[in-house]
Amino acid sequence: MTSYQSKHLLIKTYGCQMNVYDTEIMWRLLTPLGYQASSSEKQADIILINTCAIREKAEQKVFSYLGRLALIKRHKPNLIIGVCGCIAQNQGKKLIHRAPCVNFVVGTHAIFQLPSILENILNGNKQNVYVSFQDHLNEINMQQSPIIDSSISGFVTIMRGCNNYCAYCVVPYVRGKEMSRSADSIITEIKHKVSKGMREVTLLGQNVNSYGRHENQLSFTDLLEAVNDIDGLLRIRFTTSHPKDFGTELINAFAQLDKLCLHIHLPVQSGSDQILKRMNRKYTRKDYLTKIELLKNKCPDISITSDFIVGFPGESHSDFCDTLSLIKAVEYDNLFAFQYSDRNIAPSSKFFPKVEETVKRDRLIELLDVQNKNTLKNNDRCVGQRYSVLVEGKSKRDNKQWTGRTSGNKIVNFVAPETTKPLDAKLVDVVIEEACAHSLRGYLCHKK
Ligand code: SAH
Ligand code: SF4
Ligand code: F3S
Repeated sequence: MTSYQSKHLLIKTYGCQMNVYDTEIMWRLLTPLGYQASSSEKQADIILINTCAIREKAEQKVFSYLGRLALIKRHKPNLIIGVCGCIAQNQGKKLIHRAPCVNFVVGTHAIFQLPSILENILNGNKQNVYVSFQDHLNEINMQQSPIIDSSISGFVTIMRGCNNYCAYCVVPYVRGKEMSRSADSIITEIKHKVSKGMREVTLLGQNVNSYGRHENQLSFTDLLEAVNDIDGLLRIRFTTSHPKDFGTELINAFAQLDKLCLHIHLPVQSGSDQILKRMNRKYTRKDYLTKIELLKNKCPDISITSDFIVGFPGESHSDFCDTLSLIKAVEYDNLFAFQYSDRNIAPSSKFFPKVEETVKRDRLIELLDVQNKNTLKNNDRCVGQRYSVLVEGKSKRDNKQWTGRTSGNKIVNFVAPETTKPLDAKLVDVVIEEACAHSLRGYLCHKK
């Protein structure tokens, strides 16, 4: 056995669901080698930070955490700190210059080599930057790695990278070009996870509609069909779908596949054609609204959510008003909105004029205000209706209540008679009594 058996490891995760999934991969690779989960920075022998570079604020969070770790390391010089993920991929060696407490840097493609990288580091090997992109993903390692997660709802990455090059975005540079996993390995992994208790899977990719396009694989909807056939799995979700590639095939899938949740996250970013063009999004406001109309006609009960950026360079007041009017027209169930953040590697960092910080902030507040009204209106419509809810467990706030989500991804807290058997991981019917700002409240309803 190697000398690092039973080292205490802490993995801190920032960023999107892809990073959450990558952290799970790290655990799957390292747990069989004797690394044990550590509950605190003080107890840990090794700390890995899985980082996000999407906005400046996301980077700042990581560097302030590194600042804290540097202080701990003063009293604990043997502490090993590794930075993984999107900042690691982007900055490579520069990161070690900027934060000298860091021992090594592992990019987004190299995480599959973590066992040997850690062994090298622990044996005092000098190479400490691992950021080359690999042409194929090392799934072989993964098939031999045990599934250790037993959550009711889990993520499975089906493709990595992105070829879309939206003007503001770092992802194509830090995650590399689009690559899809084989359908076989995806299905095998989901079946394993279902045998460990998973009931809901979210398939992840930056643009799932282009799944398999470069590898002559199944199409995304074929993959959905295959996942829908897995026994024991109750629900399927996916994210993200790019509006330019979203079309009738996927719309039909919502109507045909019984396990596919009635929710689509379709990030539009802006409601102004001028801005969409400069963002290199490759669709117009009209294209987007036409697709939404088609979707709503075919699936009237579907929940629609989106992402928005306010204050993209050159965004005028009238462009911003176009965004607000689009939000009102679509009546989203929910949305994420961000102030534009300049990223050096993204082309729009050289676009002018920049929008002032205070203007960006005011626009964000105004946008969220419009959406809060939409959310409440949508939630109000749920009152009196019966929904199928996948139960995640007891509510953290109130032990007498259960909590779960509707197919449309709305959080539901509900009461059930005290004599009810545990409901965890079950699909139950709940009647909604009250709409709150970010959730619904109701009671368990026995199926007839
Ligand atoms: N692949 C997904 C989203 C990935 S990033 C898609 O295409 O929609 C998640 C969200 O972060 C984006 O939808 C966008 O709204 C936001 N984002 C990305 N880069 C940003 C930047 N430089 N500044 C502000 N927000 C940004
Ligand atoms: Fe970024 Fe655009 Fe790719 Fe999404 S589609 S990850 S926003 S480049
Ligand atoms: Fe962040 Fe990387 Fe995800 S930049 S949003 S963690 S792909």
